[in-house]
Amino acid sequence: MHTLNLGPDLKLPLSEVIGQCVAILGIRGSGKSNTAGVIFEELLASHYPLSIVDIDGEYFGLKEKYEVLVVGSGENVDVELDLGAAGGVAELSLREGVPVILDVSDMLAEERELFVLEYLTRIWSLAGKLRKPYMIGIEECHEFIPQGVRTDLKEVIARIALRGRKRGLGAVIISQRSAKVEKDVLTQAGMLFLHRVVHEVDMRVYSELLPWPKAEVKEQVTSLGVGECIYLSGQSIRRVKVRPRATFHGGFTPSFKPVETPKLRKVRGELLAALRSFQSGEGGAVSGRRKGTTAVASRRLERLEAELALKQARIQELERRLARAEAPELEPQGPEAKRFPEPPELPPEVIRQVERLLRRLRRLPPHQRRLVAFLAAKEPRTYTTGELAAWVDCAEGILLAEPPRELVEWGLLFRERWARGTTYRAQLKAYVNRAFSGFLPELGREGTHALVGYLRQRLGELSP
Ligand SMILES: Nc1ncnc2c1ncn2[C@@H]1O[C@H](COP(=O)(O)OP(=O)(O)O)[C@@H](O)[C@H]1O
Ligand SMILES: [Mg+2]
Repeated sequence: MHTLNLGPDLKLPLSEVIGQCVAILGIRGSGKSNTAGVIFEELLASHYPLSIVDIDGEYFGLKEKYEVLVVGSGENVDVELDLGAAGGVAELSLREGVPVILDVSDMLAEERELFVLEYLTRIWSLAGKLRKPYMIGIEECHEFIPQGVRTDLKEVIARIALRGRKRGLGAVIISQRSAKVEKDVLTQAGMLFLHRVVHEVDMRVYSELLPWPKAEVKEQVTSLGVGECIYLSGQSIRRVKVRPRATFHGGFTPSFKPVETPKLRKVRGELLAALRSFQSGEGGAVSGRRKGTTAVASRRLERLEAELALKQARIQELERRLARAEAPELEPQGPEAKRFPEPPELPPEVIRQVERLLRRLRRLPPHQRRLVAFLAAKEPRTYTTGELAAWVDCAEGILLAEPPRELVEWGLLFRERWARGTTYRAQLKAYVNRAFSGFLPELGREGTHALVGYLRQRLGELSP
């Protein structure tokens, strides 16, 4: 039986993870994606089939060593696929044991939800017949299984995580927002990797998961370094260090070094052909075998109508952008317009990292997007929440209830608490120094200045 080598002091028999719900929690940069990546590497090395729902395009690097299909909509997909193909690909993956990464990084939120729902629903029903070991990985799982909200997608994921074992299904769920993940799933997860957290709400969740007094939880958890975590499984509970990933980590991380994208394994021609057959939107050969009952057909019709509505929204958005591009008089003119370089003058890796950041930011609530666009344009001026509420046209109560926590955590905004209230300002230069530190020697002073300008300009796009 194969052993999973997760770290110098963490070797697990493969049998322990079959049908398991594995939860990986911790703040940004604590090493969650690395831990998940290591688990996936070890599963792939054991020819254990899996699918990863990859919301940030972080996992395509697994192709450096393993044959994995990357499908969906994102920068590194082998085949661009949409909703109509989701069921077919799920079936191909489970039947043939083909590992799949669902890159949903470029999908709109609604489209992503439908795509993953269709995919996992098919996995669940087919697993009932096939009963083979299979693992589902889900990054940023708080977006899919949020605490206190009911959705079809959440229901199917919770089912896989909690009741998948009989069918051979397991799940690796990853989140930086422990308190926002459905608690029932977390408390019933059979294996936990608890990386560092700092916020009180997350600490409270850890206290519920760990059999220690609160003070000890805090002491242990705050002293965890990057890649270190508290490992909990059955009776076993200990501090461990996870090994670094052997394959390329495509994720957005603050200390991302300029790296060449490595040579990736080619996908076999017949798999690509099978995938392309799904591209028609008809679901291809595999789902063609499906019984054409009216219920199935009408569900499908509903989904296609939803997809159509999304496409129309996307077309409108693209037309809007096109119109803007064709009307240069709307763009800033004169020296203002020339101050910042066009993207090609910055290294492509840098541009890609900016794009990744923007993708993340586009997922924030609208008022926070307007906020960061506004503060970036006004840097270094400081504003109180009351002033900001007026400037970004949003009730102060909303700003107080949903403060821009991520923006502060990522270092884009600087927050100070005063007797008169909380203030915010942008700190793009400091952000660039930290998040792009690996690129700075190459960029030099001028390049760095240009990058700050470019970032400011791009952040401006977040405000409609
Ligand atoms: N176990 C580890 N050993 C060495 N470096 C690690 C380890 N875990 C993470 N890192 C490094 O720390 C950074 C952040 O890790 P990542 O897994 O992306 O964090 P998260 O997903 O929690 O935001 C990355 O640059 C990664 O290479
Ligand atoms: Mg991560």
